[in-house]
Amino acid sequence: MIRAAELFSHMGLDPDLTDGGGMDVRTPIDGSVIGSVMDADPIQWEESVGLAEQAYDRWRDVPAPQRGDLVRRYGEVLRYHKDALGRLVSLEAGKILSEGLGEVQEMIDICDFAVGLSRQLYGRTIASERPGHRLMEVWHPIGPVAVITAFNFPVAVWSWNTAISLVCGNPVIWKPSEKTPLTAVACTALLRQLVDDDPVLHGLAQVVVGDHHVGQALADDVRIPLVSATGSTRMGRELGPRVAARFGRTLLELGGNNAMIVTPSADLDLARRAIVFSAVGTAGQRCTTLRRLIAHRSVHDQLVESLTKAYASVPIGDPLEEGTLMGPLIDGAAHARMADALTAAQEQGGTVHGGGRALAERWPDAYYVNPALAEMPAQTEIVREETFAPILYVMPYDELDEAIAIQNGVPQGLSSSIFTTDVREAETFVSAGGSDCGIANVNVGPSGAEIGGAFGGEKATGGGREAGSDSWKAYMRRTTVTVNYSRDLPLAQGVHFDVQ
Ligand code: UN1
Repeated sequence: MIRAAELFSHMGLDPDLTDGGGMDVRTPIDGSVIGSVMDADPIQWEESVGLAEQAYDRWRDVPAPQRGDLVRRYGEVLRYHKDALGRLVSLEAGKILSEGLGEVQEMIDICDFAVGLSRQLYGRTIASERPGHRLMEVWHPIGPVAVITAFNFPVAVWSWNTAISLVCGNPVIWKPSEKTPLTAVACTALLRQLVDDDPVLHGLAQVVVGDHHVGQALADDVRIPLVSATGSTRMGRELGPRVAARFGRTLLELGGNNAMIVTPSADLDLARRAIVFSAVGTAGQRCTTLRRLIAHRSVHDQLVESLTKAYASVPIGDPLEEGTLMGPLIDGAAHARMADALTAAQEQGGTVHGGGRALAERWPDAYYVNPALAEMPAQTEIVREETFAPILYVMPYDELDEAIAIQNGVPQGLSSSIFTTDVREAETFVSAGGSDCGIANVNVGPSGAEIGGAFGGEKATGGGREAGSDSWKAYMRRTTVTVNYSRDLPLAQGVHFDVQ
């Protein structure tokens, strides 16, 4: 097993950073310890916020295009260390190398996007109703942003938030998943190297590893105007009201329960390939993973047959070995939840294919599984829940309206897709009465979004939007400015109020 320390050395980072001494970090590949990190106490949290505030005082006055230049240089560093950082992601999160590298590419892409954005933080000029007046909107930084990330995308989601926050003028304090802290330590150290000559700017990028006590501290801290959090709906339900109670902002990207509708006109071979990638890829541990397949009755059996075959031939194993397409689940608890969900599916009338544990003799301390297909008679309770594992529930439908109702009939609203060659079906799906999700794809699976679009979803997914498009507005505050360049004082709405 390669050690995290070697990969740190490859990136020119101090290998001792992987030996923080507090909590052990394990790789899901074989369950062995690959390093350790210090977990933070409340004093460290205080220190971090203090450093972030100092950095903010300096950084908000740096012109945005110059802030963009730091992000440009970070993108270059990531290009240079893509291989080592991608391997570290695979080692710590258990995703296959191609996906580990893809995650670093996603970081590079958002850096490029943010660099361009640093010259495009446009405000509007608005026609005033009063003569000799001008109205304009000016966008300002907001202050230190807390970013909470999950194990499954240990670096990309932080980079969406950080690249955008930095060009918007905000420092970032990162609370990574306790399952993947070493990638966080590496990403932050690489960024800090770029501001080595200016210790105050070290406060721009900090990591605080810790349990829910750290989460609560940042939720309640009035010095943190924005908390951007990725994780379960349960976590968001606790965090959201706490931050709201102090009038802080949240940007929430919570659970998904993403569906694909396959219609009679679909290109079935294309659909099959997209299904296997989006349901089995990342061992079913993406927020965007395909969890529900809603297949027209006329293609249902054929699709299930071809999927059962494809599922049986998925190469499962060490994610760092070439040819592997599916690595392990993150830990034993994830495996227990998968097993429970499959039992529930059977109890609720489903027929389950696959889903058992794999490679347990070779790696008794790791949790590899066979991907599971569960043919369901209807959208039962377990289907409406998000289980973070490679389980695909398959349900038949007869009419498109019914399929869309099934697709929308879950609490979550992140991503969705339809496979069809019929323009009426495609347009209906993406219309206002179609998918209710933040992402609606046609002939593209629900996972694997590009950074250029806004990423996030509705309902129990939390409503936040990250990454591209105009998501940057969540990281800034808007000031509406009215300038009177006349010698009179006309009032809006024609109000007269003259004192003699
Ligand atoms: C996540 O699972 O939290 O669209 C993020 C995708 C990736 C990002 C997933 N670009 O699947």
